[in-house]
Amino acid sequence: MQYERLVQWARDVWSERWPGRRYVTIWASTECSNMIAQNQVKPGRRLKGKARYDGLQPLDCPVITPISDYGTRGKKMVLTSTAGAYRFKFSVEDGDPFEVVYASSYFDDDVQDLTAIAVVPEEHLETWAAFEFVCARAVRPRIRRRRDVYIIGGTDSFFDPTVDWDDVILPEDLKADLREDMEAFFTKGVSIYRQLKLAPFRKLLLSGVPGTGKTMLCAAMAKLAISQGRIVVYVSGSDRDGASFEKIQRALQAVTAARYPVLMIVEEIDAYLQGDDKARILNVLDGVESPNNPEGALLLATTNYPEVIDERIAKRPGRLDRIFVIPTIQDVGHAEQMLRHYMADQWRDEHLAVVDHLLDQPGAFVREAALHARMIAAHAHRTEVTLEFLQESIDSLLKQIRQGGDFLRDRRPISLVNPSPKKLPRPNPPPFG
Ligand SMILES: Nc1ncnc2c1ncn2[C@@H]1O[C@H](COP(=O)(O)OP(=O)(O)OP(=O)(O)O)[C@@H](O)[C@H]1O
Ligand SMILES: [Mg+2]
Repeated sequence: MQYERLVQWARDVWSERWPGRRYVTIWASTECSNMIAQNQVKPGRRLKGKARYDGLQPLDCPVITPISDYGTRGKKMVLTSTAGAYRFKFSVEDGDPFEVVYASSYFDDDVQDLTAIAVVPEEHLETWAAFEFVCARAVRPRIRRRRDVYIIGGTDSFFDPTVDWDDVILPEDLKADLREDMEAFFTKGVSIYRQLKLAPFRKLLLSGVPGTGKTMLCAAMAKLAISQGRIVVYVSGSDRDGASFEKIQRALQAVTAARYPVLMIVEEIDAYLQGDDKARILNVLDGVESPNNPEGALLLATTNYPEVIDERIAKRPGRLDRIFVIPTIQDVGHAEQMLRHYMADQWRDEHLAVVDHLLDQPGAFVREAALHARMIAAHAHRTEVTLEFLQESIDSLLKQIRQGGDFLRDRRPISLVNPSPKKLPRPNPPPFG
């Protein structure tokens, strides 16, 4: 195991420099080798235990190839987490200075999580812990009121909360229920949780097959939340790092530190519920690691796999407060509304003849059918989308779905029942997304 090699190396360095001096070997915070922390936590920084941080020195370690990740911070591109080996130096008011030998590296080739170990003088563990804390705080995305949306794991283009509530076409009672749940939590729920001495953290899941409007709903909920002075923290699994628990953890830290009520959105949460990360997510849902933001935090998660959401999550009270099933089109009224919306100025009453064919399809299908019908009309040099064009468009889409497997539904080859390896490559975007 890589960590054993790191530990061996660190102990050798230690014994060479301070033969006979007692130390403890610990799992350390990977934030200490994060470039953001190293740039922000300057030598001279005072620490708990009447101690001071005096700077660092990179060390050559034969089992580590130093490498940094990079990402956006505010508007700038910066180096972030880094694998490397260091000597961190400290001085103490009424005692001898001391050092900590530290190494961070990728655990193994398959799992792209950094791991760090440190060799610390036993009597200075407290100061080291304080240093780790300072580094972690430096790395944590800071929520200041300058922005309304914080994206963890991606850039601003990953999430755009500009969807109007009325543009989401779903059964009205379902929408009202969801909206009320959020409102009631922030306006009344938070103080009730606090009276009960519980962290005000509510957890909602939107589940449904692809293309039913879950992402759209998240964006519309975010827009509402922002208009009411709340902050949105959006966790994206779509960047290079994929769905890692580390991202959730960063988001939770940001949520905890925010001095505002937060709507936290985690899309496709099932992708995070794999391997070891699963137990950690359960801890978050159970409250062991849940954020304690006194202003309240509402988690809005989505999944394509309602049928495979683990019973341990779905059935156990308290893990998820509510599951909202976001349905495909269930009745002709809903179908007509969706079709009118996407036909817009091309709507003709004769189009009503196709609504039966839209039953059990997701909204994305209707949007695509309407778009495709316009293209067919344009191709035929016609300005009006006739019933025939619309019918042709629907037929061709249905045929595509039958031939290519149900591509709206079978997008991601993962499930909670058969966990696949971590860090799945991001699938191709859905044809209708
Ligand atoms: N209920 C709906 N009302 C209006 N438009 C919809 C609805 N559902 C889907 N659409 C249209 O289809 C597009 C794709 O929907 P969206 O991405 O929200 O689906 P999703 O449920 O998040 O899918 P996935 O599970 O694949 O992430 C939307 O941008 C929108 O144009
Ligand atoms: Mg989506």
